[in-house]
Amino acid sequence: MQRRQFIKSSCNICLLAGSGFLLSELGACGPAYQVVKTEIINNQVQIPVAGFTQSGLQFVRPKGWLYDIAVMKKNDDTYEAILLQCTHQSNQLIPAGNGYTCSLHGSQFNKEGVVTKGPASHPLKKYPVAIDHENLIINLNQS
Ligand code: FES
Repeated sequence: MQRRQFIKSSCNICLLAGSGFLLSELGACGPAYQVVKTEIINNQVQIPVAGFTQSGLQFVRPKGWLYDIAVMKKNDDTYEAILLQCTHQSNQLIPAGNGYTCSLHGSQFNKEGVVTKGPASHPLKKYPVAIDHENLIINLNQS
């Protein structure tokens, strides 16, 4: 890791801590937030709705994927799934403040995936989410 990239990553972790993310969720390696790892079945992933009782935001990593999906519970009790792949040059995004940031060139996205700071110019990819009894089903076929 280049010195500049390390400093940027360190600052992003500080931003996370300052924005209310629990320090206990920070690990020495890997992402600085909890990620639910799940299998892909019929191009869908499932996560329990019960996981949203304490937080309106969860992160999912489909098996074999390089990027996490942020799943957000909205005020109308619907859910939104956003791929945390920067639309500039495909870097993994991390949560920061009230959205997501890219440590590579500094693009920022709000929590709905809309670009708030370039160089990225396209919004993040979204997946439809359905509720099936006690699970959320994220359909990876559509966006
Ligand atoms: S890859 Fe994210 S800003 Fe360039």
